[in-house]
Amino acid sequence: MKIDVISIFPEYLSGLKLSLIGKAVDQGLLDLNVHDLRDFTFDRHNTVDDSPYGGGAGMVMKAEPWALALEHVLGGNSAGGGPEGAQKPILIVPSPAGPVFNQHIAEDLSGAEHLVFACGRYEGIDQRVIDWSADHFDLRPMSIGDYVLNGGEVASMVMIEAVSRLIPGVIGNPESLTEESHEDGLLEYPIYTKPASWRDRDVPEILLSGNHGAIARWRRDRRLERTAEVRPDLLAELRGLDKHDRALLERFESGDESMTE
Ligand code: ADE
Repeated sequence: MKIDVISIFPEYLSGLKLSLIGKAVDQGLLDLNVHDLRDFTFDRHNTVDDSPYGGGAGMVMKAEPWALALEHVLGGNSAGGGPEGAQKPILIVPSPAGPVFNQHIAEDLSGAEHLVFACGRYEGIDQRVIDWSADHFDLRPMSIGDYVLNGGEVASMVMIEAVSRLIPGVIGNPESLTEESHEDGLLEYPIYTKPASWRDRDVPEILLSGNHGAIARWRRDRRLERTAEVRPDLLAELRGLDKHDRALLERFESGDESMTE
């Protein structure tokens, strides 16, 4: 997968050189390029912003540097210029005004050939270049949650990490991608390591039993319970509950404490 990021703070993205994502880049699984928007300006001050038409607080990012930067990452792959039938690159514009990013979207994006992240700053980017970009890209404004950040860099890093860890080979042991929170609409079960007893707190006995079936059931119960408690909104979306699952959730709703053992 190719990922291009455009920002006026390219060094912000340097965290992506670390850990598993950095390793994926080193191994050639991920072709990650960060571009400085100011490289696409031609005035003495490398101006990327100006005051908003219609008045109001703050500054707006100018259209032309963005168009030049986006054309640069398109290379020969602009609509009509790329190979016949080629997928348009996906352009993600982080914005609190976009639909909210989630694991389904991460999974969908992990199959893409080329992602481009346009990190806006100030009050945002001139709408005309966003509209123009839809002719060349599969345009996706995207929020990472209902709060406001100072710019798109952190949001892009969040999405890049969530997407690239799903690319085959990026996570050494692909089994660790199963039973994670949100993987199948449930939060993950609690986990423990040695010692079995720590400051008078014991690991649940069943995990020491070696009974794999019972452990799997216990873990699923804990996932259901945790989801019902912390994220009841996720339960409404759940499909494929078995009889045991439904009975556990009914006991949870009725407040029966005995279910927790
Ligand atoms: N830019 C500012 N706030 C944001 C948010 N919540 N998600 C994505 N991009 C943003």
